[in-house]
Amino acid sequence: MALVRIPDERRTLRDAEEITGYLKSIGIDYERWRPSRLVASGAAADEILKAYAEDIERLKAGGGYVTADVIDVQPQTPGLEQMLAKFGREHWHDDDEVRFVIHGRGLFHIRPRSASVVAIEVEAGDLIRVPKQTWHWFDLCTDRTIRAIRLFKDPAGWVPNYTASGIDRDYQPVCMGAAYFPAASL
Ligand SMILES: [Fe+2]
Repeated sequence: MALVRIPDERRTLRDAEEITGYLKSIGIDYERWRPSRLVASGAAADEILKAYAEDIERLKAGGGYVTADVIDVQPQTPGLEQMLAKFGREHWHDDDEVRFVIHGRGLFHIRPRSASVVAIEVEAGDLIRVPKQTWHWFDLCTDRTIRAIRLFKDPAGWVPNYTASGIDRDYQPVCMGAAYFPAASL
């Protein structure tokens, strides 16, 4: 289950319906997926894609995506620092950013045109779709591990266009994890 924070409003959303509804209001699609068959998070990419084929095909049909693959990022992944630097600055692109998390965690920050910045921490079972031209940036959590299905309209992928706003530096890329309880609920 994703964890959604709106730092400027000191709000945290944990309820599935509330999260889905709020993200929808800023144009972000969020879903929870279940595999059609049991599949280990470390299974071969084609096994992963088969287990989620129904949802993948539904998204392809509805969103015009033509390819799906599985990306693996680990602390020892070559070029990890450059990759993090590339996506950790506010950017936008001409294709949607569609990710379904198999394993690990990641942190999206979204800057809607007319609402506060939203931090979305995604974990296994979370599908997120960041529409094209959305201002956003992405960080890994401290374990620097994520395995995710990606969908693309253009098999060549997209290139980030940087806004150069520098706003990403105003928000700590902190993952709270499942054990996070805000002070207000203690
Ligand atoms: Fe992006």
